[in-house]
Amino acid sequence: MSLNHIFENNRNWVKDKLGIDPAYFSKLAEGQQPKLLYIGCSDSRVSAEELMGLKPGEVFVHRNIANMVTNTDLSVMSVIEYAVDVLKVEHVVVCGHHSCGGVKAAMEPADMGLLNPWLRNIRDVYRLHQDELDAIQEPDQRYRRLAELNVREQCLNVIKTASVQRAHKQRGLLVHGWIFDVQTGHLRDLQIDFRGKLERIMRIYQVD
Ligand code: CO
Repeated sequence: MSLNHIFENNRNWVKDKLGIDPAYFSKLAEGQQPKLLYIGCSDSRVSAEELMGLKPGEVFVHRNIANMVTNTDLSVMSVIEYAVDVLKVEHVVVCGHHSCGGVKAAMEPADMGLLNPWLRNIRDVYRLHQDELDAIQEPDQRYRRLAELNVREQCLNVIKTASVQRAHKQRGLLVHGWIFDVQTGHLRDLQIDFRGKLERIMRIYQVD
């Protein structure tokens, strides 16, 4: 497959933007002040900006397999730190999705080579909620539930960071857990009790 169409798309996109506002790119070049950090899955069907209807400059994005916030992952930790401390985002969102290949792979015992340590983090989420998940008979429902529980757990990992604890205390930063359903296109807020969770978590993980 040739990639030439991408450059043609890009030229058309530039033309469209400049048609609406000749200063569009010079304004973009002045800097970014996104209010939102979005941590989502790399899945090609879950297009962060497009599904939220946001434009360039409006959201700082980090994506990896199964939207994981792993404590030792320097990449996601740097993104959180930069977004919260430097860009001063007001919201951090962990957005999971149904039909997630990463979540599915973690539910099936198999050797996935280099992916093993990554999937192990999702398997840990399964283990934490094993009673609830094993009680769900229908495998598809269990799979859906794990995707949601994984979002919750990754939100907790976000809350464990010093920058997030500090920004919440100083300027009311909020953490949200959302789930996107590929089958319907709908985005749903999992209504995670951020303040309650923060209070509990601070008893163990307070770093600020
Ligand atoms: Co996924």
